[in-house]
Amino acid sequence: MAILYDKNENIFHLKTNATSYVMQIIRDKYLSHLYWGRKVENYNNSRAIIWKDRGFAPNPDYTDRTFSLDTLPQEYPQTGNGDFRICAYSVRDENGSRISNLEYKSHKIIKGKNPLKGLPASFASEDEVQTLIIYMQDSVINLVVELEYNVFEKSNVITRNVRFTNKSSSPLTLTKMLSMSVDIREKEFDVITLYGAHNNERNIDRRSLKSGIIQIESTRGTSSPQQSPFMALARKNTDEDQGDVYAINFVYSGNFIACAQADAFENVRLQMGMNPLNGEWYLKPDETFQTPEVVMVYTYKGLNHMSHIFHDFYRNHLMRGKYVHKIRPILINNWEATFFDFNEQKLLNLAKKASDVGIEMFVLDDGWFGHRDSDDSSLGDWFVDKRKLPHGLSWLSDEIHKLGMKFGLWFEPEMISEDSELYKQHPDYVLHTEGRPYTIGRGQLVLDLSRKDVCDYVIKSVRDILNSAKIDYVKWDMNRHLTDVGSSTYLPCQQGEITHRYVLGLYYIMQTLTDEFPDILFESCSSGGGRFDAGMLYYMPQTWCSDNTDAVCRMKIQYATSFMFPPITMGAHVSVVPNQQTGRVTPLSTRGYVAMSGNFGYELDLNTLTDEEIEQVKEQIYLYKEIRETIQNGIFYRIKSPFEENIAQWNFVSNDGKNVVAFHFEILSQPAAPVKLLKLKGLDANAQYKNLSDGKIYGGDELMYSGISVPLKKQDFRSQCYRFYKI
Ligand code: DGJ
Repeated sequence: MAILYDKNENIFHLKTNATSYVMQIIRDKYLSHLYWGRKVENYNNSRAIIWKDRGFAPNPDYTDRTFSLDTLPQEYPQTGNGDFRICAYSVRDENGSRISNLEYKSHKIIKGKNPLKGLPASFASEDEVQTLIIYMQDSVINLVVELEYNVFEKSNVITRNVRFTNKSSSPLTLTKMLSMSVDIREKEFDVITLYGAHNNERNIDRRSLKSGIIQIESTRGTSSPQQSPFMALARKNTDEDQGDVYAINFVYSGNFIACAQADAFENVRLQMGMNPLNGEWYLKPDETFQTPEVVMVYTYKGLNHMSHIFHDFYRNHLMRGKYVHKIRPILINNWEATFFDFNEQKLLNLAKKASDVGIEMFVLDDGWFGHRDSDDSSLGDWFVDKRKLPHGLSWLSDEIHKLGMKFGLWFEPEMISEDSELYKQHPDYVLHTEGRPYTIGRGQLVLDLSRKDVCDYVIKSVRDILNSAKIDYVKWDMNRHLTDVGSSTYLPCQQGEITHRYVLGLYYIMQTLTDEFPDILFESCSSGGGRFDAGMLYYMPQTWCSDNTDAVCRMKIQYATSFMFPPITMGAHVSVVPNQQTGRVTPLSTRGYVAMSGNFGYELDLNTLTDEEIEQVKEQIYLYKEIRETIQNGIFYRIKSPFEENIAQWNFVSNDGKNVVAFHFEILSQPAAPVKLLKLKGLDANAQYKNLSDGKIYGGDELMYSGISVPLKKQDFRSQCYRFYKI
């Protein structure tokens, strides 16, 4: 049993194979947190709360000065009656009051897990997950709050979400509704978050939490490249291979907050959920609001193990569709080769060359529709530009298929250009607040996806194109953030809902299209990895990791992205040098090995390469086809971090443990260069492995503990690939 309830002590014990999560109902009312961490077989309340009268800690029961919500470790804290720490939810009632008081009413434990209405969420069979729902109520305003905990025993994951139901006869306004909160009764943590920008996604920030709050957020309408909806608490000594980590990741693609608050008594409150800024919900009587889900991972085995838990969980319990476990095609994308300047001949020349070198799919990027010669026109006009493609998409797709390749197509369906037929017909489709000017971003406006009719327009226009030609793959782009958020189709008191309604509209569109076109491989993109989140992965099993294709930058971006997401989800392409984003010149071999560490492809004009380079490209493609099963479906180990050193190292081990692929990257050449060692991870210490390049045999223990001496070379940005086979 994954969920135990001790009636006498009122204790819930949620158990996975390796972790325990324990809560207690105190005084028949208050849901308190006791323990989250390494598994304890039987919890006998060794950690019982010690009651103590603390200054400035008010008491709900005046006869007992030792009891205060301000010092109680809680599961879903409220505001207004004595807990002065950061709350998990808040609600404004008809009288304008924001005080709320939740009390335990009942609970139920069920096998399995129900889908979350309108939202992406993890799933599993009844044997793989058990669910605990705790019913809490504020009896003054008749608000019922269901706290849901899903325990995935084998995956070592707990997920949480919350539902609010208004049981009163008057409306309530939810002004904050986080998906989880937990009071960890220990301190001395570092907080790890991932921050960045366009072209510079997911840098690792690790800072110590001493007092007060560390909070990250997005207010941009998407999960954003600026901050990822991920936070981890790690012990000071935690590294890739050992140490406690408490990690949370949001299955949501819109505004969020994640925070860690250190209180005065050495507890840390860890929270995640939708951002309360512009994130209200007007809850009419009998209506329910469902929050998105948070995935919670604890391990004492360090950051690599944290990532393995996330990777395994997302592959088996979040990503959907026929491509999740399938090897993905090597693609060529014409964007950096042509930008908007192409015609049929140019595309076919590129495709022909791509097919000659063994590439498996040709992707036609931006610029094939309306009259789009630059980025300030035609979004919304999803019909073929006959000036560029006189024979149409179906013909082009057939020509590509004749070359033995699949055909993929770019869309940016959530947007509208002022210079478009759609805008002429439906200026009202723009997301905007009545009476305020529009704010343009990348020359474009955003469609109001809070409106069902606008969503249906998007579905129809994408559907019509997908039905018009043989299309095997879709790149779903999104190149600006939300401004002027409002929608006159909703009441004034509902304007705070629009950002979330936009995300719900987007999820409705993606659900409909991915259901209707199960054979199409969808890749999400937001100017690269600007919306690389677990919510998008539920619909689309791969994401263009960054517009930055510079090999050195990509080492970092892919390294940190792997904290939550497996390499198969990361679109990674070889592009030209000097690199278009950084101007850096790196060897083709290094560009290849970095891109091969993810979901591999090319994004350049192959016709401009020398014969020698083309031979190298052929070898890269041949190699990737050999190692792709291990890279895409195997286990990924980070060895050396490019954030900390002049090198980056990682290795992959296939699921059957037989194939090992390792990469070593050295960024700048150094004078008096030290000899670097590559110590592999995840091998069988007792097995023998053959080096596939020279046939030499090594023990797994030797490769892991002694390591390989990487040859010295006077060259910047150099790289090395090693392959071993278990014998
Ligand atoms: C941003 C994407 O990240 C690029 O790969 C490309 O598709 C452009 N948009 C096209 O406008």
